Amino acid sequence: MEKRRRGSGGVPSLAVAVLAALLAAASMPSPPRVAAALSPDYYKDSCPGLESIVRYEVARKKNETVVTIPATLRLVFHDCMVGGCDAAVLIASKNNDAEKDAPDNESLAGDGFDTINRVKAAVEKRCPGVVSCADIIALAARDVVYLADGPYWRVELGRLDGLDSRASDVKGKLPDPDMHVKDLTPVFQRNGFTEVDMVALSGAHTVGFAHCSRFTDRLYSYGGARTDPSFNPAYAYQLKQACPIDVGPTIAVNMDPVSPIRFDNAYYANLQDGLGLFTSDQVLYADEATRPIVDMFAASQKDFFDAFVAAMLKLGRLGVKTGKDGEIRRVCTAFNH
Ligand code: HEM
Ligand SMILES: *[C@@H]1O[C@H](CO)[C@@H](O)[C@H](O)[C@H]1NC(C)=O
Ligand SMILES: *[C@@H]1O[C@H](CO)[C@@H](O)[C@H](O)[C@H]1NC(C)=O
Repeated sequence: MEKRRRGSGGVPSLAVAVLAALLAAASMPSPPRVAAALSPDYYKDSCPGLESIVRYEVARKKNETVVTIPATLRLVFHDCMVGGCDAAVLIASKNNDAEKDAPDNESLAGDGFDTINRVKAAVEKRCPGVVSCADIIALAARDVVYLADGPYWRVELGRLDGLDSRASDVKGKLPDPDMHVKDLTPVFQRNGFTEVDMVALSGAHTVGFAHCSRFTDRLYSYGGARTDPSFNPAYAYQLKQACPIDVGPTIAVNMDPVSPIRFDNAYYANLQDGLGLFTSDQVLYADEATRPIVDMFAASQKDFFDAFVAAMLKLGRLGVKTGKDGEIRRVCTAFNH
């Protein structure tokens, strides 16, 4: 598909002005947060070399299967948004009632879980019983972003792994792909995220896949039996080819049709061009509250990367467990007892 790129003209300066206003509005009180002492140097003495072990194992896995990148990145979002960054999402349950069994889990399993389990096994060999699975998720998510040509940042460490994992806790905690900005905003705001954070985090959809069922409403039954007019028509046509009405449950498409496994700012230019896959993507451009942020990130990959890193650090501080509220799991998929 021929890409139309918007000229950057006078738009960025306007965007910056509106952004300043948004940032000011965002300094309202945010919800209380556990003041855990996270630090990039947390394992400096207890597990020197940790970061290179993680980096090596993540790269090895990525060389086997590149879908490790999106799978691992999505994992950190789902873990942290539900009861905090405590690796509860990894717990395997006997009765299908752990976090990963909630309906929102679709496609969560597989390569993301396998990446973390492999890293954990390698880390346990070098530093047994020292490094939490929650911290491994945070490190691996940073490493996959970097391996996909995205930004690099120092990951804050020192989380413990959680002691429970319930499917029933997931409901309402994660955004839904059918949501509009007015519904997306509170899901993020509850966790202390601003609109800028929300738009930056959504840029994670510059990598990875989505199953047809997550967006076929937009293709075939938008307000009756129509196609969502905010789709670029050529893109809607392609999606209908890939996802016919009677499509099976396993078919998935790239979320960023332009550069599907590169972590870049193409996602935002895509939104300007009507190439957003979910309603929750495309509305970020349709809504006046968030459009200036989309325009800014489309115009500057550096601004996107800076905002993404800041938001990932915030994400990593959600609901951190310390003391008797957590443990260092021996195996990431099971509690120690
Ligand atoms: C803004 C609200 C968001 C909504 C509504 C949303 C929803 C979804 C949905 C429905 C899928 C497709 C799952 C499937 O069909 O298999 C998906 C995939 C994905 N999401 Fe999100 N998401 C959001 C934000 C985020 C954030 C903040 C991140 C990470 C920082 C993220 C990372 C990913 C990745 C990397 C994939 C691809 C997974 C893969 O290919 O395995 N998403 N998201
Ligand atoms: C992964 O592949 C790249 C490129 O071929 C190579 O440079 C790197 O050493 C590989 N890493 C691992 C850990 O296998
Ligand atoms: C997701 O949850 C459903 C139940 O809602 C379960 O049948 C399925 O096995 C779960 N998928 C994964 C990957 O755990």
